[in-house]
Amino acid sequence: MGDPLKEQAETLAALRQVFDAAGPYLDQLPERLVYDRSAEPLLAELAGPLPMEGEGTQSAVERLLRIGTATATASAGPRFYHFVIGGSTPAALAADWVVSMLDQNAFVRASSRFADSVETAALDWLRELVGLPRGWGGALTASATFANLTGLALATHWWAERHGVDVTSSGLVGLPRMPVLSGGYVHPSARKALQMLGHGKDTVEAYAADDIGHIDLAAVRRRLAELDGAPAVLVATAGEPNAGDFDPLADLAELAETFGAWLHIDGAFGLFAALSPRTAHLTAGIERADSIASDAHKWLNVPYESGFALVREPDRLGPAFGMPGAAYLPGPDDPQGGYGLLGPESSRRARALPIWASLAAYGRNGYRELVERHCDLAAHLAATIDAAPDLERLAEVPLNVVCFRYRPPDLSEPQLDDVNRRLGQALLTDGRVFAGTTVYGGRVALRPAISNWRTTAADLDLFVDIVRELGAKAAAELAE
Ligand SMILES: Cc1ncc(COP(=O)(O)O)c(C=O)c1O
Repeated sequence: MGDPLKEQAETLAALRQVFDAAGPYLDQLPERLVYDRSAEPLLAELAGPLPMEGEGTQSAVERLLRIGTATATASAGPRFYHFVIGGSTPAALAADWVVSMLDQNAFVRASSRFADSVETAALDWLRELVGLPRGWGGALTASATFANLTGLALATHWWAERHGVDVTSSGLVGLPRMPVLSGGYVHPSARKALQMLGHGKDTVEAYAADDIGHIDLAAVRRRLAELDGAPAVLVATAGEPNAGDFDPLADLAELAETFGAWLHIDGAFGLFAALSPRTAHLTAGIERADSIASDAHKWLNVPYESGFALVREPDRLGPAFGMPGAAYLPGPDDPQGGYGLLGPESSRRARALPIWASLAAYGRNGYRELVERHCDLAAHLAATIDAAPDLERLAEVPLNVVCFRYRPPDLSEPQLDDVNRRLGQALLTDGRVFAGTTVYGGRVALRPAISNWRTTAADLDLFVDIVRELGAKAAAELAE
């Protein structure tokens, strides 16, 4: 026990343990609680002292499966509407197992020509899927936050270059503050990327026309004019998580072109609106951006960690992310180079495999249908909410997010906020369905996002029934 060399023969048995657990877990996924609090005591079994002697492969895997299948959040299932979370398609799940089996380092071609080729194909398919022209390139990242970091790092390099500085070698010292302009929808993830790049998260100049966050384009234009030709960065949001709304991308592209600014688009989930002719107007203008961040682990329904950055001038990636100076490493232009030198991470798992497999399995039409089905389901949910006397929809539904609140009669606005906050907590404790709360236009609201391939209208009808049941309880508690 305790030496993997002596346990080689256990490998297939351990994989079979996983395979045997997968059937019941996946079968139950549509019906099981999203989160089962009664299983929580099992989590304590994970802690304890580091074992001196290992318990052996099969025993450790058995324990992990026993605890994991009982305590995992069923966010891969059809009733999880919190955040914006997809499941794993059948092909993506199998391909993710292949990632671990092959255990490639998707660092450079010298570490895996296979992983590099799959990433090149997957990025090109993603580019084509969302309708960007040939010549765009990019890199797969761990998340949309890292994709934002990738795009905004390129923006930083471009901006410093305009000031005559190679920021790669000399950093930000001596440069003025980089002007970053956005509307009110700018996501904390883009701010976090700016913070990691040394600009600070609070330097974003967010021009909102109202307390929802709609962009004040005239104010952005005025500010750009005031900058008088100094380089600036525009951050647009394609799909904000409260109601799935979009900044006017074509208008922002026009401003960027007029004033010579860099346009970065955060389309973590909203970029996928481009897949359907019904919603493609929302993403019109993306081809005029300089950099775009998105997530495949959201609407593409592949496992974590699957962000991606697409950029108009891929040649900018090498100078920004290469690691010159270590004689044993290839350079970014080296035939043995690769994506580990074109993005923020170096050694990386071959996260392209599930993306490639899922796109190969379901194709453009399969994904178009998925996006359209989810938009139809969001419309169905909105109609159900509109028909319910105790529910109030707070926003239009341009995509897959429905923003609404529980609204029994005769409560003041502060009481409604209180009831909806309690309702949000109650949903997470109850566990039959999951949705999160937000504050929309000053009101506490629920914002279910529909992005899992398994979700059906029946799941959403159940969601509404549970919201009304728990909402009534929360209102009664308040009255006590
Ligand atoms: C618009 C937007 N940007 C960025 C993110 C961050 O994504 P990730 O968690 O993959 O970094 C999200 C997450 O929901 C998002 O909605």
